[in-house]
Amino acid sequence: MKSKKYFKWIFVSLIILIVLSLLILGVPDMNGKKIAAQHGIIHPATVAHRGASYWAPETTRPAYLLAMAMSPDYVEMDVQRTKDNVLIAFHDDTLERTTNVAEVYPDRQQDPIGKFTWAELQKLDTGTWFNQKFPERARPTFVGLPILKFEELVDIVTQGNSSTGLYVETKCPELYPGIEAEIVELLKQKGWITAQGQAARPIIFESFNLNSVKQFKQITPEIPRSYLMNAVMYRQQGMEKLQKDAQEFGHAVGSIAHPRIIGPAHKKGLLTYFYTINKSWQMRWLLLWGADGFFTDRPDLGLHFTRKVPKIDVRELWPKIGY
Ligand code: G3P
Ligand code: CA
Repeated sequence: MKSKKYFKWIFVSLIILIVLSLLILGVPDMNGKKIAAQHGIIHPATVAHRGASYWAPETTRPAYLLAMAMSPDYVEMDVQRTKDNVLIAFHDDTLERTTNVAEVYPDRQQDPIGKFTWAELQKLDTGTWFNQKFPERARPTFVGLPILKFEELVDIVTQGNSSTGLYVETKCPELYPGIEAEIVELLKQKGWITAQGQAARPIIFESFNLNSVKQFKQITPEIPRSYLMNAVMYRQQGMEKLQKDAQEFGHAVGSIAHPRIIGPAHKKGLLTYFYTINKSWQMRWLLLWGADGFFTDRPDLGLHFTRKVPKIDVRELWPKIGY
C-alpha cells in the first residue's frame, strides 16, 4: 500500500518536471538536420571554441593543433587587425587578460589591439597567463607562446588534412572597416574559397555585428553566415527581432544557451549554435532539444555527444602534436 503511494508521487513529480521543462525550455524541435543538409552543413556540429581552449591557452598553436588532433567539425576563431594591417586571431579587444602586455608595454595595457603593430605583438607571451590561472593544466611548453596570425591558423587547419571547417568570427569589426573582404581574400589565396566564391572546404562566417554579417552576404553570398547574440542584445531587441535580422542576412544564430530559441529559429529556416558549452549535461540537454551544434572549449567532450565516439584521452594527444 505504502509503495503504491510512493510510485504515485514519483509519477506526479515526473509529470511536473516534464511540464516545467517544456514551459521553461520550449518544445524540442528536430528540424535542424534538414536545414543543415540544405546548406551542406554537418549536423550536429562540435565547434572547437578558440581551439581546444580548455586544455591549452586559447587561440594558440597548441590549442588548435590539439583541437585538430580530435577532428572537430569546425574550429572557431576571432579575427582582428593590427595597426599595420595584419589579420590576427585574438579574442579580447585589449591584451591585458591573456598576454604579458603589463610587463612589455606597461603604459599601453588598455590600448586596443588595432594600436599595436604585428612586430610589437610578436614580443608578447600569450601562454603564461594560462599556466598561472590553471596550474592543474599548465605545461612548460605554453610559456612564451606567440599570438597567431589568422593566416598561420588557417595553415594549421589546412595541414590537418581533415574535413574540419573554419568558423570565423569578426571581432569588433566596426574598428576594422573592410576586414570581411580581407578575410575572404586570404581564404581565397589559401584555397578555402574558390575564385567563384564557393566554399572549397566548410566555412561559416559569424559576428555579433549585423553589418559585418551583411558584408559577408554581399561579398560571398554562397557561404553560410551566422548572427551572434548575447544577453544584452536579447534584452534590448528581443529574440524575434534578432532572429528576423539573422534570417535576412544569414543562415544561423549563435546564442547563449537557451533551448527556447531553437523552435522559432528552425521555423525561420535558421540553424542554432550555442556558446560556450563545456559541461556534459548542457550538451545532452541542447542536443535533446534539437540544437544544431555548440561551441565548446572541450571538443573532446563535444564529439563524444555529437558523434557518439568514445571519450578522447587528451593525454595521448600531447606527444602527437609535440607539446
Ligand atoms: O563564436 C561564438 C562565441 O565565440 C561568441 O562569444 O565572446 O567567445 O567570442 P565569444
Ligand atoms: Ca568567438
